[in-house]
Amino acid sequence: MLQAMKNATAKVDIFADLETAATKETTGLGAIDRGAARVRVDDKRMINARADVNQLLPMKYRWAWEKYLAACNNHWMPTEVPMQADIALWKSRDGLSDDERLTLKRNLGFFAASESLVANNIVLAIYRHLTNPECRQYLLRQAFEEAVHTHTFQYIVESLGLDEGELFNMYREVPSITDKAAWALEYTQHLDDPHFKTGTLASDQAFLRDLVAFYVVFEGMWFYTGFVQILSLGRRQKMVGIAEQYQYILRDESIHLNFGIDVINQIKLENPAVWTASFQDDIRGMIHDAAELEAAYGRDTMPHGLLGLNAPLCESYMHFIANRRCVQLGLRPVLADTDNPFPWMSETMDLKKEKNFFETRVIEYQNGGALDWD
Ligand SMILES: [Fe+2]
Ligand SMILES: [Fe+2]
Repeated sequence: MLQAMKNATAKVDIFADLETAATKETTGLGAIDRGAARVRVDDKRMINARADVNQLLPMKYRWAWEKYLAACNNHWMPTEVPMQADIALWKSRDGLSDDERLTLKRNLGFFAASESLVANNIVLAIYRHLTNPECRQYLLRQAFEEAVHTHTFQYIVESLGLDEGELFNMYREVPSITDKAAWALEYTQHLDDPHFKTGTLASDQAFLRDLVAFYVVFEGMWFYTGFVQILSLGRRQKMVGIAEQYQYILRDESIHLNFGIDVINQIKLENPAVWTASFQDDIRGMIHDAAELEAAYGRDTMPHGLLGLNAPLCESYMHFIANRRCVQLGLRPVLADTDNPFPWMSETMDLKKEKNFFETRVIEYQNGGALDWD
């Protein structure tokens, strides 16, 4: 009896050791395997790889490396953008209508905490389970960019003398913003569990849901209403400094989104069993729900509408974007076919003009290749 118990304990210990070894392999922080064979490119995988994650070369996923290079070429800092015009307009009695002030503040409040949520998800959830060094290289760059974006909101709050408590607490205090943050955080809770590991159908699908919630929905859908609101003000020469900063954030976010889409599609390719019909329905359901949450946010941030912009137009835009995200993931659209109500967005996104769109000053950070903006 005692021997049987000892054997059982020994077995449990062996499994515990194996689990620890597998986890250490995926983090890259385990003991060095001195006798291991060299990494072959074919050994590399997006998830559940056994190849040493500390070796960037030989490179398998050039698309991840290209995005890392493009992101480095886009370097910018919020403090390089002059804020005098914004400060004067914000402080002048008639510079902005009450509706414009409400939209602006709620927009800033949504982004201020969202940048941190996205950053925490990258660093504390995704990074650990994405077992590929070239993708991790990009994640490290993206994490820095999210820090730059959070810095942008600190800089805006400081420049305009806004109530920092009001802005940074909106994600807990304004229901339509809380609903979005809470929806996304539900998908990251599995990964937050220290015992979570990919490698089963259920856990690989949980990881994919997290990628969809943050890359496709948060960064690829919800941020876009926010961009439209601020860039629309900028087109009317209002809050041009913030609008310029949002242009740079949009440029960064468009690469974040495209990286996320490539990661998801590559995981699908390498693990076709995860992409079941019911799982596809789940993902389509997520995108559909996210579009509805965004419509509520649109009504909350634009109760009366602004010049050329209102909640119904933003809802159509979200339908257009939601369907586009479905196509990018190889899914059937979730909403009725809709035209883009803001065709000017693509022009606004073109940062390779000789002069900045808002004519504040010339900044030419971008020297990389063409980017897919929407
Ligand atoms: Fe960001
Ligand atoms: Fe981002």
